[in-house]
Amino acid sequence: MPEHAANSVSGINIKSSQNRLLIKNGRVVNDDGMEDADVYIEDGIIKQVGRNLIIPGGTRTIDATGKLVMPGGIDPHTHFELEMMGAKTADDFYKGTRAAVAGGTTTVIDFVLPQKGQSLIEAYNNWRQKADNKVCCDYALHVGVTWWSPSVKKEMEQLVSEHGVNSFKMFMAYKDAWMLDDYELMVAMETCAELRALAQVHAENGNIIARNTEKLLASGITGPEGHQLSRDEEVEAEAVNRACVIANQVNAPLYIVHIMSKSAVKALRIARSRQNPPVYGETLAATVGTDGTHYKNACFRHAAAHVLSPPLRPDPDTPDAILQALADDDLQLIGSDHCTFHEKDKELGKNDFTKIPNGVNGVEDRLAILWQKGVNTGIMDPCRFVSVSSAAAARIFNLYPRKGRVAAGADADLLVWDPRAERTVSAATHRQAVPFNIFEGQHVVGGPQYVIVNGRVCLDDGELRVVEGLGKFLKTPPNCPYIYGGGEEMPRTPQKVDYPEPTTPNRVTNGTPTNDVSVATKQLDGMSVTSSGCSTPTGRKMREPGQRDLQNSTFSISKEMEGLDQKTSVRVRNPPGGKSSGLW
Ligand code: URP
Ligand code: ZN
Ligand code: ZN
Repeated sequence: MPEHAANSVSGINIKSSQNRLLIKNGRVVNDDGMEDADVYIEDGIIKQVGRNLIIPGGTRTIDATGKLVMPGGIDPHTHFELEMMGAKTADDFYKGTRAAVAGGTTTVIDFVLPQKGQSLIEAYNNWRQKADNKVCCDYALHVGVTWWSPSVKKEMEQLVSEHGVNSFKMFMAYKDAWMLDDYELMVAMETCAELRALAQVHAENGNIIARNTEKLLASGITGPEGHQLSRDEEVEAEAVNRACVIANQVNAPLYIVHIMSKSAVKALRIARSRQNPPVYGETLAATVGTDGTHYKNACFRHAAAHVLSPPLRPDPDTPDAILQALADDDLQLIGSDHCTFHEKDKELGKNDFTKIPNGVNGVEDRLAILWQKGVNTGIMDPCRFVSVSSAAAARIFNLYPRKGRVAAGADADLLVWDPRAERTVSAATHRQAVPFNIFEGQHVVGGPQYVIVNGRVCLDDGELRVVEGLGKFLKTPPNCPYIYGGGEEMPRTPQKVDYPEPTTPNRVTNGTPTNDVSVATKQLDGMSVTSSGCSTPTGRKMREPGQRDLQNSTFSISKEMEGLDQKTSVRVRNPPGGKSSGLW
Protein backbone atom coordinates (compact mmCIF):
# COMPACT_ATOMS: atom_id res chain seq x y z
CA MET A 1 0.00 0.00 0.00
CA PRO A 2 1.48 3.39 -0.86
CA GLU A 3 2.52 5.43 2.17
CA HIS A 4 -0.05 8.17 1.67
CA ALA A 5 -2.87 5.56 1.58
CA ALA A 6 -1.73 4.04 4.85
CA ASN A 7 -1.68 7.49 6.36
CA SER A 8 -5.37 8.10 5.75
CA VAL A 9 -6.97 4.90 7.11
CA SER A 10 -10.15 5.87 9.04
CA GLY A 11 -9.09 9.47 8.94
CA ILE A 12 -6.24 8.77 11.41
CA ASN A 13 -2.79 9.83 10.40
CA ILE A 14 -0.97 6.61 11.24
CA LYS A 15 2.50 7.68 10.14
CA SER A 16 2.16 10.91 12.03
CA SER A 17 1.16 9.15 15.26
CA GLN A 18 4.53 7.37 15.12
CA ASN A 19 6.14 10.75 14.84
CA ARG A 20 4.66 12.10 18.03
CA LEU A 21 6.31 12.16 21.39
CA LEU A 22 5.39 13.70 24.72
CA ILE A 23 7.97 14.18 27.45
CA LYS A 24 6.03 14.68 30.65
CA ASN A 25 6.77 15.96 34.14
CA GLY A 26 10.39 16.98 33.57
CA ARG A 27 12.19 20.20 34.34
CA VAL A 28 13.05 22.03 31.12
CA VAL A 29 16.47 23.69 31.27
CA ASN A 30 17.59 26.37 28.84
CA ASP A 31 20.61 28.64 29.10
CA ASP A 32 18.53 31.43 30.59
CA GLY A 33 16.10 29.64 32.86
CA MET A 34 14.26 26.55 33.96
CA GLU A 35 10.62 25.60 34.24
CA ASP A 36 8.63 22.50 35.02
CA ALA A 37 6.96 21.75 31.71
CA ASP A 38 5.95 19.04 29.29
CA VAL A 39 7.41 18.97 25.80
CA TYR A 40 5.39 17.83 22.80
CA ILE A 41 7.18 16.82 19.61
CA GLU A 42 5.76 16.10 16.18
CA ASP A 43 7.63 15.27 12.98
CA GLY A 44 11.00 16.15 14.40
CA ILE A 45 10.01 19.58 15.70
CA ILE A 46 9.12 20.75 19.20
CA LYS A 47 5.53 21.88 18.88
CA GLN A 48 4.63 22.89 22.43
CA VAL A 49 6.31 23.44 25.79
CA GLY A 50 4.05 23.87 28.81
CA ARG A 51 1.56 22.12 31.05
CA ASN A 52 -1.92 20.78 30.35
CA LEU A 53 -1.10 20.38 26.70
CA ILE A 54 -3.72 18.85 24.43
CA ILE A 55 -2.06 15.88 22.77
CA PRO A 56 -3.43 13.57 20.06
CA GLY A 57 -4.15 9.98 21.09
CA GLY A 58 -1.57 7.32 20.36
CA THR A 59 1.33 9.60 21.23
CA ARG A 60 4.25 7.90 22.94
CA THR A 61 4.86 9.36 26.39
CA ILE A 62 8.15 9.45 28.29
CA ASP A 63 7.80 10.16 31.98
CA ALA A 64 10.60 12.55 32.97
CA THR A 65 9.66 12.91 36.63
CA GLY A 66 12.79 13.94 38.51
CA LYS A 67 14.72 14.42 35.28
CA LEU A 68 15.95 17.42 33.36
CA VAL A 69 14.90 18.06 29.78
CA MET A 70 17.70 19.90 28.02
CA PRO A 71 18.70 20.76 24.47
CA GLY A 72 20.95 18.07 23.01
CA GLY A 73 24.63 18.81 23.30
CA ILE A 74 26.40 20.59 20.47
CA ASP A 75 30.03 19.62 20.14
CA PRO A 76 31.71 22.47 18.26
CA HIS A 77 34.96 20.60 17.70
CA THR A 78 35.37 17.07 16.31
CA HIS A 79 37.73 15.32 13.88
CA PHE A 80 36.11 12.26 12.34
CA GLU A 81 37.92 10.45 9.54
CA LEU A 82 40.74 12.98 9.53
CA GLU A 83 44.10 12.15 8.02
CA MET A 84 46.91 13.83 9.92
CA MET A 85 50.52 13.10 10.81
CA GLY A 86 50.57 9.96 8.66
CA ALA A 87 47.51 8.39 10.27
CA LYS A 88 43.74 8.43 10.07
CA THR A 89 41.44 9.00 13.03
CA ALA A 90 39.77 5.85 14.28
CA ASP A 91 36.22 7.16 14.56
CA ASP A 92 34.49 7.73 11.25
CA PHE A 93 31.29 9.75 10.95
CA TYR A 94 29.16 6.75 11.89
CA LYS A 95 31.09 5.59 14.95
CA GLY A 96 31.85 9.14 16.03
CA THR A 97 28.29 10.42 15.86
CA ARG A 98 26.98 7.18 17.38
CA ALA A 99 29.26 7.79 20.37
CA ALA A 100 28.15 11.43 20.43
CA VAL A 101 24.48 10.46 20.63
CA ALA A 102 25.19 7.84 23.31
CA GLY A 103 26.58 10.63 25.47
CA GLY A 104 23.82 13.16 24.74
CA THR A 105 25.33 15.18 21.91
CA THR A 106 22.95 15.67 19.00
CA THR A 107 24.94 18.03 16.75
CA VAL A 108 28.64 18.02 15.93
CA ILE A 109 30.71 20.54 14.02
CA ASP A 110 33.65 18.86 12.32
CA PHE A 111 36.68 20.42 10.64
CA VAL A 112 37.47 20.13 6.93
CA LEU A 113 41.26 20.34 6.93
CA PRO A 114 42.73 20.69 3.41
CA GLN A 115 46.30 19.68 2.71
CA LYS A 116 48.66 22.54 1.86
CA GLY A 117 47.92 23.52 -1.73
CA GLN A 118 44.64 21.58 -1.90
CA SER A 119 41.46 23.27 -3.06
CA LEU A 120 39.24 24.11 -0.09
CA ILE A 121 36.13 23.26 -2.09
CA GLU A 122 37.57 19.89 -3.06
CA ALA A 123 38.36 19.13 0.60
CA TYR A 124 34.88 20.28 1.63
CA ASN A 125 33.28 17.98 -0.96
CA ASN A 126 35.39 15.08 0.32
CA TRP A 127 34.15 15.72 3.85
CA ARG A 128 30.52 15.87 2.73
CA GLN A 129 31.04 12.58 0.94
CA LYS A 130 32.56 10.98 4.03
CA ALA A 131 29.84 12.28 6.32
CA ASP A 132 26.46 12.66 4.64
CA ASN A 133 25.36 9.02 4.59
CA LYS A 134 26.97 8.07 7.87
CA VAL A 135 26.01 10.69 10.44
CA CYS A 136 23.62 9.61 13.18
CA CYS A 137 22.90 13.24 14.10
CA ASP A 138 23.00 16.61 12.37
CA TYR A 139 26.37 18.11 11.62
CA ALA A 140 27.97 21.27 10.29
CA LEU A 141 31.48 22.03 9.04
CA HIS A 142 34.24 24.51 9.78
CA VAL A 143 36.92 24.73 7.07
CA GLY A 144 40.64 25.07 7.75
CA VAL A 145 42.64 27.77 5.97
CA THR A 146 45.89 25.82 5.95
CA TRP A 147 47.68 27.81 3.24
CA TRP A 148 47.20 31.16 1.61
CA SER A 149 46.77 32.46 -1.94
CA PRO A 150 44.21 34.57 -3.81
CA SER A 151 42.48 31.33 -4.85
CA VAL A 152 41.97 30.44 -1.18
CA LYS A 153 40.24 33.75 -0.65
CA LYS A 154 37.93 33.07 -3.62
CA GLU A 155 37.10 29.63 -2.29
CA MET A 156 36.33 31.03 1.16
CA GLU A 157 33.80 33.35 -0.52
CA GLN A 158 32.27 30.41 -2.35
CA LEU A 159 32.11 28.27 0.77
CA VAL A 160 30.20 31.00 2.57
CA SER A 161 27.86 31.96 -0.25
CA GLU A 162 27.14 28.51 -1.67
CA HIS A 163 28.11 25.79 0.78
CA GLY A 164 26.81 26.76 4.21
CA VAL A 165 30.17 27.42 5.90
CA ASN A 166 30.50 30.40 8.27
CA SER A 167 33.71 29.62 10.18
CA PHE A 168 37.34 29.11 9.19
CA LYS A 169 40.15 27.74 11.33
CA MET A 170 43.69 29.07 11.04
CA PHE A 171 46.68 27.42 12.69
CA MET A 172 49.45 29.29 14.48
CA ALA A 173 51.20 25.95 15.09
CA TYR A 174 51.99 22.79 13.07
CA LYS A 175 54.90 24.56 11.34
CA ASP A 176 55.59 23.21 7.83
CA ALA A 177 52.12 21.64 7.74
CA TRP A 178 49.06 23.82 8.42
CA MET A 179 50.64 26.88 10.04
CA LEU A 180 50.10 30.38 8.60
CA ASP A 181 52.49 33.23 9.32
CA ASP A 182 51.17 36.40 10.93
CA TYR A 183 50.73 38.19 7.60
CA GLU A 184 48.69 35.30 6.20
CA LEU A 185 46.73 35.04 9.42
CA MET A 186 45.92 38.72 9.25
CA VAL A 187 44.68 38.51 5.65
CA ALA A 188 42.66 35.37 6.43
CA MET A 189 41.01 37.10 9.41
CA GLU A 190 40.33 40.16 7.27
CA THR A 191 38.64 37.91 4.72
CA CYS A 192 36.51 36.28 7.42
CA ALA A 193 35.34 39.73 8.55
CA GLU A 194 34.59 40.79 4.95
CA LEU A 195 32.51 37.64 4.50
CA ARG A 196 30.81 38.13 7.88
CA ALA A 197 32.15 34.71 8.84
CA LEU A 198 33.97 33.75 12.04
CA ALA A 199 37.77 33.39 12.25
CA GLN A 200 38.94 30.55 14.50
CA VAL A 201 42.52 30.03 15.59
CA HIS A 202 44.62 27.25 17.03
CA ALA A 203 46.73 29.44 19.31
CA GLU A 204 50.27 28.18 19.93
CA ASN A 205 53.54 29.68 18.77
CA GLY A 206 54.70 27.21 16.11
CA ASN A 207 58.18 28.69 15.78
CA ILE A 208 58.94 28.43 19.48
CA ILE A 209 57.65 24.85 19.47
CA ALA A 210 59.88 23.98 16.50
CA ARG A 211 63.00 25.37 18.16
CA ASN A 212 62.22 23.85 21.58
CA THR A 213 61.64 20.50 19.87
CA GLU A 214 65.04 20.57 18.18
CA LYS A 215 66.68 21.20 21.53
CA LEU A 216 64.71 18.52 23.38
CA LEU A 217 65.44 15.85 20.77
CA ALA A 218 69.13 16.85 20.73
CA SER A 219 69.25 16.42 24.51
CA GLY A 220 67.80 12.91 24.22
CA ILE A 221 64.22 13.62 25.30
CA THR A 222 62.22 11.64 22.78
CA GLY A 223 59.26 10.32 24.84
CA PRO A 224 55.73 11.77 25.14
CA GLU A 225 56.79 14.03 28.02
CA GLY A 226 58.74 16.02 25.42
CA HIS A 227 55.45 17.05 23.81
CA GLN A 228 54.38 19.11 26.81
CA LEU A 229 57.92 20.39 27.46
CA SER A 230 58.15 21.79 23.93
CA ARG A 231 55.00 23.91 24.32
CA ASP A 232 54.35 25.20 27.83
CA GLU A 233 51.59 27.58 28.91
CA GLU A 234 53.47 30.69 27.85
CA VAL A 235 53.68 29.36 24.28
CA GLU A 236 49.89 29.11 24.23
CA ALA A 237 49.20 32.41 26.02
CA GLU A 238 51.51 34.38 23.71
CA ALA A 239 49.62 33.08 20.68
CA VAL A 240 46.23 33.83 22.25
CA ASN A 241 47.32 37.41 22.80
CA ARG A 242 48.81 37.72 19.30
CA ALA A 243 45.68 36.29 17.67
CA CYS A 244 43.54 38.77 19.60
CA VAL A 245 45.76 41.70 18.59
CA ILE A 246 45.67 40.70 14.92
CA ALA A 247 41.88 40.24 15.03
CA ASN A 248 41.51 43.63 16.67
CA GLN A 249 43.69 45.25 14.01
CA VAL A 250 41.41 44.02 11.25
CA ASN A 251 38.19 44.34 13.23
CA ALA A 252 37.45 40.63 12.98
CA PRO A 253 35.44 38.64 15.52
CA LEU A 254 37.54 35.76 16.79
CA TYR A 255 37.00 32.29 18.26
CA ILE A 256 39.94 30.59 19.94
CA VAL A 257 39.64 26.82 19.87
CA HIS A 258 40.84 24.42 22.56
CA ILE A 259 42.11 26.77 25.29
CA MET A 260 44.06 24.52 27.60
CA SER A 261 45.78 26.61 30.27
CA LYS A 262 45.28 29.19 32.98
CA SER A 263 47.76 31.51 31.25
CA ALA A 264 45.79 31.34 28.01
CA VAL A 265 42.54 32.09 29.84
CA LYS A 266 44.20 35.11 31.42
CA ALA A 267 45.33 36.40 28.02
CA LEU A 268 41.85 35.83 26.64
CA ARG A 269 40.18 37.60 29.57
CA ILE A 270 42.31 40.69 29.02
CA ALA A 271 41.54 40.71 25.30
CA ARG A 272 37.82 40.22 25.89
CA SER A 273 37.74 43.18 28.24
CA ARG A 274 39.51 45.53 25.85
CA GLN A 275 38.27 44.68 22.42
CA ASN A 276 35.22 44.83 20.31
CA PRO A 277 34.47 42.87 18.00
CA PRO A 278 34.00 39.92 20.27
CA VAL A 279 36.43 37.14 21.12
CA TYR A 280 35.13 33.74 22.21
CA GLY A 281 37.02 30.97 23.96
CA GLU A 282 36.45 27.23 23.76
CA THR A 283 37.95 24.68 26.11
CA LEU A 284 37.82 20.89 26.06
CA ALA A 285 36.39 18.05 28.11
CA ALA A 286 39.96 16.71 28.29
CA THR A 287 41.13 19.85 30.10
CA VAL A 288 38.53 19.66 32.83
CA GLY A 289 38.50 15.86 33.04
CA THR A 290 42.17 14.95 33.21
CA ASP A 291 45.62 16.55 33.33
CA GLY A 292 49.17 16.58 32.02
CA THR A 293 50.68 14.33 34.67
CA HIS A 294 49.87 11.41 32.34
CA TYR A 295 52.73 12.40 30.00
CA LYS A 296 55.12 11.10 32.64
CA ASN A 297 53.48 7.66 32.71
CA ALA A 298 56.12 5.01 32.05
CA CYS A 299 53.79 3.21 29.66
CA PHE A 300 54.19 4.71 26.18
CA ARG A 301 50.69 3.63 25.16
CA HIS A 302 49.17 5.45 28.14
CA ALA A 303 51.21 8.64 27.80
CA ALA A 304 50.84 8.84 24.02
CA ALA A 305 47.06 8.41 24.26
CA HIS A 306 46.99 11.76 26.09
CA VAL A 307 49.00 13.65 23.47
CA LEU A 308 47.06 16.50 21.91
CA SER A 309 47.82 20.12 21.08
CA PRO A 310 47.86 22.35 23.00
CA PRO A 311 48.79 19.73 25.60
CA LEU A 312 47.20 18.92 28.93
CA ARG A 313 48.86 20.91 31.67
CA PRO A 314 50.77 19.45 34.60
CA ASP A 315 49.54 22.25 36.93
CA PRO A 316 47.00 20.43 39.16
CA ASP A 317 44.89 23.59 39.52
CA THR A 318 44.16 23.76 35.81
CA PRO A 319 40.92 21.70 35.63
CA ASP A 320 39.21 23.68 38.40
CA ALA A 321 40.45 27.01 37.04
CA ILE A 322 39.11 26.16 33.58
CA LEU A 323 35.76 25.11 35.04
CA GLN A 324 35.59 28.37 36.95
CA ALA A 325 36.39 30.27 33.75
CA LEU A 326 33.51 28.47 32.03
CA ALA A 327 31.20 29.36 34.91
CA ASP A 328 32.35 33.01 34.94
CA ASP A 329 32.04 33.46 31.17
CA ASP A 330 35.78 33.92 30.69
CA LEU A 331 35.31 30.88 28.45
CA GLN A 332 32.09 30.37 26.53
CA LEU A 333 32.08 26.79 25.28
CA ILE A 334 33.35 23.30 25.85
CA GLY A 335 34.06 20.96 22.96
CA SER A 336 35.75 17.59 22.75
CA ASP A 337 38.34 18.00 19.95
CA HIS A 338 37.56 14.31 19.53
CA CYS A 339 40.44 12.96 17.43
CA THR A 340 41.16 9.33 18.29
CA PHE A 341 44.00 7.25 16.91
CA HIS A 342 44.64 3.55 17.18
CA GLU A 343 47.60 2.41 19.23
CA LYS A 344 49.54 1.38 16.11
CA ASP A 345 49.25 4.97 14.88
CA LYS A 346 50.29 6.52 18.19
CA GLU A 347 53.31 4.19 17.95
CA LEU A 348 54.57 6.14 14.95
CA GLY A 349 56.07 8.37 17.63
CA LYS A 350 57.58 5.63 19.77
CA ASN A 351 61.09 7.07 19.37
CA ASP A 352 60.18 10.67 18.62
CA PHE A 353 57.32 12.48 20.35
CA THR A 354 56.88 14.84 17.37
CA LYS A 355 55.56 11.90 15.34
CA ILE A 356 52.80 10.91 17.80
CA PRO A 357 49.52 11.77 16.03
CA ASN A 358 47.85 14.48 18.10
CA GLY A 359 44.42 13.80 19.53
CA VAL A 360 42.27 12.33 22.30
CA ASN A 361 38.73 11.04 22.82
CA GLY A 362 35.90 13.09 24.31
CA VAL A 363 32.79 13.20 22.13
CA GLU A 364 30.95 10.56 24.17
CA ASP A 365 31.85 11.64 27.69
CA ARG A 366 31.99 15.44 27.28
CA LEU A 367 28.60 16.09 28.88
CA ALA A 368 28.93 13.59 31.72
CA ILE A 369 32.43 14.82 32.60
CA LEU A 370 31.30 18.46 32.60
CA TRP A 371 28.24 17.64 34.70
CA GLN A 372 30.34 15.71 37.18
CA LYS A 373 33.15 18.24 37.46
CA GLY A 374 31.09 21.39 37.01
CA VAL A 375 27.54 20.87 38.25
CA ASN A 376 28.01 18.19 40.91
CA THR A 377 30.69 20.35 42.52
CA GLY A 378 28.53 23.49 42.51
CA ILE A 379 30.85 25.39 40.18
CA MET A 380 28.10 25.92 37.62
CA ASP A 381 24.36 25.41 37.54
CA PRO A 382 22.38 23.45 34.94
CA CYS A 383 21.61 26.59 32.90
CA ARG A 384 25.28 27.38 32.51
CA PHE A 385 25.88 23.72 31.70
CA VAL A 386 23.38 24.05 28.84
CA SER A 387 24.99 27.29 27.74
CA VAL A 388 28.57 26.03 27.48
CA SER A 389 27.74 22.58 26.14
CA SER A 390 25.02 23.50 23.65
CA ALA A 391 23.38 26.93 23.42
CA ALA A 392 26.53 29.03 23.04
CA ALA A 393 27.66 26.95 20.07
CA ALA A 394 24.21 27.31 18.49
CA ARG A 395 24.34 31.07 19.00
CA ILE A 396 27.90 31.57 17.77
CA PHE A 397 27.57 29.37 14.69
CA ASN A 398 24.16 30.82 13.80
CA LEU A 399 22.08 27.73 14.45
CA TYR A 400 20.08 29.25 17.30
CA PRO A 401 17.23 28.86 18.23
CA ARG A 402 16.68 25.96 15.86
CA LYS A 403 19.38 24.19 17.86
CA GLY A 404 20.48 24.73 21.47
CA ARG A 405 17.05 25.52 22.87
CA VAL A 406 13.99 23.69 24.14
CA ALA A 407 11.18 25.81 22.73
CA ALA A 408 8.31 25.52 20.29
CA GLY A 409 9.62 25.61 16.72
CA ALA A 410 13.08 24.25 17.56
CA ASP A 411 14.41 20.96 16.22
CA ALA A 412 13.52 18.10 18.54
CA ASP A 413 17.12 17.40 19.62
CA LEU A 414 16.66 16.76 23.31
CA LEU A 415 18.02 15.00 26.34
CA VAL A 416 16.18 13.56 29.25
CA TRP A 417 18.99 13.83 31.74
CA ASP A 418 18.97 11.74 34.86
CA PRO A 419 21.00 13.54 37.52
CA ARG A 420 21.14 10.31 39.54
CA ALA A 421 22.42 7.94 36.86
CA GLU A 422 25.80 6.58 37.89
CA ARG A 423 28.44 4.92 35.80
CA THR A 424 32.16 4.49 35.60
CA VAL A 425 33.73 5.69 32.37
CA SER A 426 35.62 2.92 30.65
CA ALA A 427 36.90 1.87 27.25
CA ALA A 428 35.28 -1.48 28.00
CA THR A 429 31.82 0.07 27.71
CA HIS A 430 32.26 3.18 25.57
CA ARG A 431 31.22 3.32 21.91
CA GLN A 432 34.31 5.07 20.58
CA ALA A 433 36.49 3.05 18.22
CA VAL A 434 39.65 2.93 20.34
CA PRO A 435 40.26 0.65 23.33
CA PHE A 436 41.47 3.56 25.46
CA ASN A 437 39.66 6.34 27.27
CA ILE A 438 41.45 9.31 28.85
CA PHE A 439 38.71 9.41 31.52
CA GLU A 440 39.08 5.70 32.34
CA GLY A 441 37.82 4.77 35.79
CA GLN A 442 36.14 8.08 36.57
CA HIS A 443 32.85 7.70 38.36
CA VAL A 444 30.20 10.10 37.07
CA VAL A 445 26.78 10.86 38.47
CA GLY A 446 24.36 12.24 35.90
CA GLY A 447 23.81 11.16 32.33
CA PRO A 448 21.29 10.88 29.52
CA GLN A 449 18.47 8.39 29.91
CA TYR A 450 16.82 9.35 26.62
CA VAL A 451 18.39 11.13 23.68
CA ILE A 452 16.07 12.38 20.98
CA VAL A 453 17.57 13.23 17.61
CA ASN A 454 15.32 15.04 15.17
CA GLY A 455 12.29 13.67 17.01
CA ARG A 456 13.51 10.08 17.07
CA VAL A 457 14.37 8.34 20.34
CA CYS A 458 17.95 7.27 19.67
CA LEU A 459 18.88 6.48 23.25
CA ASP A 460 15.83 4.79 24.70
CA ASP A 461 16.04 4.27 28.43
CA GLY A 462 19.72 3.50 28.00
CA GLU A 463 19.41 1.42 24.84
CA LEU A 464 21.21 2.97 21.90
CA ARG A 465 19.18 2.91 18.67
CA VAL A 466 21.02 5.23 16.35
CA VAL A 467 20.19 5.46 12.68
CA GLU A 468 23.07 5.70 10.25
CA GLY A 469 22.43 8.59 7.89
CA LEU A 470 19.62 10.08 10.00
CA GLY A 471 21.56 13.30 10.45
CA LYS A 472 21.54 16.17 8.01
CA PHE A 473 24.18 18.65 7.00
CA LEU A 474 23.38 21.99 8.62
CA LYS A 475 24.18 25.07 6.60
CA THR A 476 25.54 27.76 8.89
CA PRO A 477 24.66 31.17 7.47
CA PRO A 478 27.08 34.11 7.68
CA ASN A 479 26.41 37.44 9.39
CA CYS A 480 25.41 35.83 12.65
CA PRO A 481 23.42 38.36 14.69
CA TYR A 482 25.10 37.33 17.96
CA ILE A 483 28.51 38.11 16.53
CA TYR A 484 27.86 40.92 14.09
CA GLY A 485 25.02 42.63 15.94
CA GLY A 486 21.37 43.01 15.27
CA GLY A 487 20.40 40.14 17.54
CA GLU A 488 19.95 39.48 21.20
CA GLU A 489 23.12 39.50 23.26
CA MET A 490 24.33 36.11 24.41
CA PRO A 491 23.97 35.79 28.18
CA ARG A 492 27.30 37.11 29.42
CA THR A 493 27.15 38.50 32.90
CA PRO A 494 27.12 35.70 35.39
CA GLN A 495 25.29 36.14 38.65
CA LYS A 496 25.51 33.61 41.39
CA VAL A 497 22.03 33.68 42.83
CA ASP A 498 19.76 31.18 44.41
CA TYR A 499 21.97 28.22 43.69
CA PRO A 500 22.90 26.29 46.78
CA GLU A 501 26.57 25.73 47.44
CA PRO A 502 27.36 22.11 48.12
CA THR A 503 27.78 21.45 51.81
CA THR A 504 31.36 21.20 52.99
CA PRO A 505 31.51 17.47 53.67
CA ASN A 506 30.33 16.72 50.14
CA ARG A 507 32.97 18.71 48.37
CA VAL A 508 36.57 17.70 48.58
CA THR A 509 38.79 20.75 49.05
CA ASN A 510 40.45 20.52 45.64
CA GLY A 511 37.07 20.64 43.92
CA THR A 512 36.98 16.91 43.28
CA PRO A 513 33.37 15.88 43.00
CA THR A 514 32.00 13.45 45.47
CA ASN A 515 30.63 10.15 44.30
CA ASP A 516 27.70 10.52 46.65
CA VAL A 517 24.64 10.62 44.39
CA SER A 518 22.73 12.56 47.03
CA VAL A 519 24.91 15.65 46.45
CA ALA A 520 23.70 16.19 42.91
CA THR A 521 20.12 15.53 43.79
CA LYS A 522 20.25 17.69 46.92
CA GLN A 523 21.52 20.58 44.83
CA LEU A 524 18.77 20.15 42.28
CA ASP A 525 16.14 19.75 44.97
CA GLY A 526 17.24 23.07 46.40
CA MET A 527 16.89 25.04 43.19
CA SER A 528 13.96 27.31 42.65
CA VAL A 529 12.35 27.32 39.26
CA THR A 530 13.17 30.86 38.27
CA SER A 531 15.43 32.38 35.70
CA SER A 532 17.40 33.86 38.58
CA GLY A 533 18.30 30.32 39.49
CA CYS A 534 20.68 30.38 36.57
CA SER A 535 24.08 31.92 36.27
CA THR A 536 23.42 33.46 32.89
CA PRO A 537 20.31 35.55 33.26
CA THR A 538 19.17 37.62 30.33
CA GLY A 539 15.85 38.93 31.46
CA ARG A 540 14.25 36.96 28.67
CA LYS A 541 11.30 34.79 29.58
CA MET A 542 11.62 31.24 28.45
CA ARG A 543 7.93 30.58 28.92
CA GLU A 544 6.01 30.48 25.64
CA PRO A 545 2.83 32.53 25.33
CA GLY A 546 -0.23 30.86 26.78
CA GLN A 547 1.70 28.60 29.14
CA ARG A 548 1.12 28.50 32.85
CA ASP A 549 3.54 30.23 35.16
CA LEU A 550 5.19 27.41 37.01
CA GLN A 551 7.95 29.42 38.54
CA ASN A 552 6.97 28.51 42.03
CA SER A 553 6.64 24.79 41.57
CA THR A 554 9.10 22.51 43.24
CA PHE A 555 11.34 19.92 41.71
CA SER A 556 12.10 16.81 43.60
CA ILE A 557 13.99 13.77 42.54
CA SER A 558 12.31 10.83 44.10
CA LYS A 559 12.56 8.09 41.52
CA GLU A 560 15.17 5.45 42.06
CA MET A 561 18.03 5.49 39.63
CA GLU A 562 17.41 3.22 36.70
CA GLY A 563 20.10 0.85 35.48
CA LEU A 564 21.34 1.70 32.02
CA ASP A 565 22.66 -0.90 29.65
CA GLN A 566 25.47 1.16 28.30
CA LYS A 567 26.60 -1.33 25.73
CA THR A 568 23.34 -2.08 23.95
CA SER A 569 23.22 -0.53 20.52
CA VAL A 570 20.94 -1.05 17.56
CA ARG A 571 22.31 0.04 14.22
CA VAL A 572 19.52 0.88 11.80
CA ARG A 573 20.09 2.26 8.36
CA ASN A 574 17.71 4.78 6.81
CA PRO A 575 14.29 3.21 6.44
CA PRO A 576 12.80 2.84 2.98
CA GLY A 577 11.22 6.12 2.02
CA GLY A 578 14.02 8.26 3.35
CA LYS A 579 14.98 9.98 6.58
CA SER A 580 11.66 9.84 8.37
CA SER A 581 11.90 10.98 11.94
CA GLY A 582 9.36 8.42 13.10
CA LEU A 583 9.70 7.02 16.58
CA TRP A 584 10.25 3.31 16.18
O1 URP B 1 45.75 17.60 19.12
C1 URP B 1 44.79 18.00 18.49
N1 URP B 1 44.14 19.04 18.93
N2 URP B 1 44.44 17.34 17.36
C2 URP B 1 43.49 17.74 16.43
C3 URP B 1 43.95 18.83 15.54
C4 URP B 1 43.76 20.17 16.17
O2 URP B 1 44.72 20.92 16.29
O3 URP B 1 42.64 20.50 16.53
ZN1 ZN C 1 43.87 22.79 16.76
ZN1 ZN D 1 40.93 19.98 16.85
